[in-house]
Amino acid sequence: MANGNGNGHGPRVRVGAALEKFDEKMRGSQAWTAIFRPGSVYRRGYTDSPRNRSYVIMNNVLYHLHPVKVKRHSVKVSYTLCLGGLSFFLFILLTVTGIFLMFFYRPTEAAAWPDIKTLETAVTFGSLVRNMHRWGAHLMVLSVFLHMCRVFYHGAYKAPREFNWVIGVVLLLLTLLLSFTGYLLPWDQLALWAVTVGTNMMGYTPVFGSSVKYVLLGSNEISGDTLLRWYVLHVLLLPFVIVIFMAVHFWRVRKDGGITGPL
Ligand code: HEM
Repeated sequence: MANGNGNGHGPRVRVGAALEKFDEKMRGSQAWTAIFRPGSVYRRGYTDSPRNRSYVIMNNVLYHLHPVKVKRHSVKVSYTLCLGGLSFFLFILLTVTGIFLMFFYRPTEAAAWPDIKTLETAVTFGSLVRNMHRWGAHLMVLSVFLHMCRVFYHGAYKAPREFNWVIGVVLLLLTLLLSFTGYLLPWDQLALWAVTVGTNMMGYTPVFGSSVKYVLLGSNEISGDTLLRWYVLHVLLLPFVIVIFMAVHFWRVRKDGGITGPL
């Protein structure tokens, strides 16, 4: 193939028709070259071969997010129903909408509920974003659960994927905890009583019951301390932990040789 980049360094590797076409357009731009470093492989005279195409992927952190090769069935929507991907998408949506909500919400007994009312009635797109966050949370719980059912149905919990199944169980727990901690934040009657019932149930934990309840409430009964505690868990600690577990989960999918095949 003739050298298409005009720098006289030989032919370039065909990475993929769409990517190549886009790259063709952007090639003159210094920013594009700095970010994607296309020259690192094909501008230096490498020939078009499967190995060199792999280099293009492996030498770039953004392309590297995808494996060089995937099994044909694993990109078939009917196999995974995209439930894992959907759970991840919903998590991103919840993060973006959650950051928006944080601009208008203060986690104190006096401000929490009035802030929610202001958000609903006086903030541009406030009601929309709040509902996206709430519905997104319900949907994420559902999609993670259905993803787990799909994985179980395909027997993907068996060797060599047992470890990733365990990581998955932790992800399910973290998703439920995120959902539950978020539920208290509007500081309305529904939230207060849901959390009262939930923490009373935790109080029946054998041996450590009262300590567990105290740690969860931040005092002897539900109060502003509980609100602050659950807010920090909801916006900081739990998202931080779930991101780490997701990274391990995705990494394991690749290390286990991609997803399972049809039985
Ligand atoms: C936040 C929650 C979760 C996210 C974002 C997530 C994401 C993903 C993604 C993107 C995949 C690739 C294939 C697919 O889409 O089905 C996957 C595979 C897998 N997930 Fe999850 N997952 C989550 C929760 C879980 C749970 C709760 C379990 C089980 C208890 C689980 C176990 C697995 C296993 C074993 C695989 C490999 C499946 C196979 O080889 O067919 N995951 N996950």
